Amino acid sequence: MTSMITRESPLFFREDIDMKTSKKIYIRTFGCQMNDRDSEEITGMLLERGYILSDSPEETDVALFNTCSVRKHAEERAISNIGALKALKKKRPHLIVGVVGCMAKAQGDKIIEKLPIVDFIAGPANIYDIPDMIDEVMTAQRGQISIDRESRPYIKNIAYHAKGISALVTIMEGCNNFCSYCIVPYVRGREIGRPSQNIIDEIKKLTEEGYKEVTLLGQNVNSYKDGESNFIKLLEKINGIDGIKRIRFLTSHPKDAGEDLFKAMRDLDKACEHLHLPLQSGSDKILKSMNRGYTVADYLKKVEILRKHIPGCAITTDVIVGYPGESDEDFIMTEKLMETVKFNSAFIFKYSPRPPAKASGLDDDVPKRVKEERNQALLKLRDRISSLKDREFIGTQTEVLIENICRKEKHKVTGRNRQNIKVALAGNSDLIGKLKTVKINSVFCHTLVGGLIEK
Ligand code: 5AD
Ligand code: SF4
Repeated sequence: MTSMITRESPLFFREDIDMKTSKKIYIRTFGCQMNDRDSEEITGMLLERGYILSDSPEETDVALFNTCSVRKHAEERAISNIGALKALKKKRPHLIVGVVGCMAKAQGDKIIEKLPIVDFIAGPANIYDIPDMIDEVMTAQRGQISIDRESRPYIKNIAYHAKGISALVTIMEGCNNFCSYCIVPYVRGREIGRPSQNIIDEIKKLTEEGYKEVTLLGQNVNSYKDGESNFIKLLEKINGIDGIKRIRFLTSHPKDAGEDLFKAMRDLDKACEHLHLPLQSGSDKILKSMNRGYTVADYLKKVEILRKHIPGCAITTDVIVGYPGESDEDFIMTEKLMETVKFNSAFIFKYSPRPPAKASGLDDDVPKRVKEERNQALLKLRDRISSLKDREFIGTQTEVLIENICRKEKHKVTGRNRQNIKVALAGNSDLIGKLKTVKINSVFCHTLVGGLIEK
C-alpha cells in the first residue's frame, strides 16, 4: 500500500499563502495507516511554516518519502522510488530529499551510502524534528541525520488533519510484543499511550470540522493505557462525543482482545462491528516460534465469544506464509483455520527476514517458489470466502457512511458500512457525510452495490 498527499485529495488550503513564492513539498507514503497519519502530521507542520503541497517531485522544493520496513519488498520499492530522483537532483541541486519513517530508523546512514541524493533522514520518533531539519539543510546546505530519539516526544497541540469524513487518530506509539518476525518494536520503540484527554480534545475538534468517524490507531491498540484510562474507558469516552457517529480501531492483538472488549463493542452504539484480528498462522508450532502468545484453540475461542456477543461482526486478519520451519502440514492447518473462521477479508504476506527481529536468525528455509504457491493458494481461498461473506448482504439493509463521489461513475457515491465493507449507490455530493440506510442488491469486486432506502 502506498499513498500520496496531494493538493486535491485531502484538501489543505491556506488563503494566507502566496502560491508563487512559497516553497513546495511533495510527500509519498509507504506502508500502514500509522504512516498515513504520520504523513498527515508532517504535512500539517510544514503547511504551518508556509509550505504548499506539490503533486509531483518534478516541481517540488522538498521531496519526502515516509517509508516502511515491515517487509524487504517495501524497502526496495521506496529505495527504487527515491533512486529515480537522481537525474532530477542533478538538474536541480537545490531539491531537498528526505527519507523518514521506519526504514530511516532501520537503516540509518546506510541509506546515504545507497542513495547519495538523500539530504536528511528522520526516524518515526523524530517526526517533530523534520521542519527544523529541512530549514537546517536549506540554510547550511549539509545533510542531517536524526534517528536518535528513543521514543516520540509528546507534543500537545500537534493534531493536523486534512479535510474529510473519516479521520485517523493515533492513540499510541510503539509495540512491546516482539513477535519473532517483526521489526516494528525496533523501529517504533516501546508502547506509549497518548494522554486520553489529548485524544478526546483532538476528536472534539474533528467533529467541529465535520468529521463523523474516527479510526483509533496503534500497533496494539487494545493494550492502550495512559495511567488513567485503558482502551475500553477510552472507547466509552469517545462514544460520548456528540458529532462522532462511528468508532473503529486497529490493530488488535488476540492476546489483548477479550470478552470485556467484545462486550464494550456490543454496548457502545458508535463502536463498529468490525475487528481486525491478525492470526498469522493456523499452526501452534509456528505460532509458538512467532512468539504470538496464543494457540489456535485460544484464537478460535475468541472468535466464538466475539460472535456470541456480536453475531454480525466482520472479522479480518493478517497471515504470514513461509515462516521458517513452516511445513506443508503447518500450511494446511492455516488453510483449514481460514475455512473455519470465514474471515471477511485477509492480508496475506510472504515471510521476509527482518534483522534484528529474532526470526531473522532462523534458517529462512521455505523456498521462494513454495512461499509464492502458498501465497497464491491463500489469496484464492480468501477471495472465495470474502465473496461468500459479501453475498450474505444481498437483500439486507445496511447503514452506510457516505464519503466520496465514485471515481469511475460520477452519478454514484461510495462509503462503508459498519462492517467496513465498501458500498456504492446512486447519489450526489449532498449525501457526503451522511449516514444512510442502503438496500444491497449485488456485489461487484468486494463492493456492495445497492440503493437508498428513504426514511
Ligand atoms: N514478513 C512478512 N510479513 C510480516 N508482517 C510483519 N512482519 C513481517 C515479516 N517479517 C506482517 C504481519 C503483520 C502485518 C502488518 O505485516 O502479518 O500483522
Ligand atoms: Fe509487530 Fe507483533 Fe507488535 Fe504487531 S504485535 S507490531 S506484529 S511485534
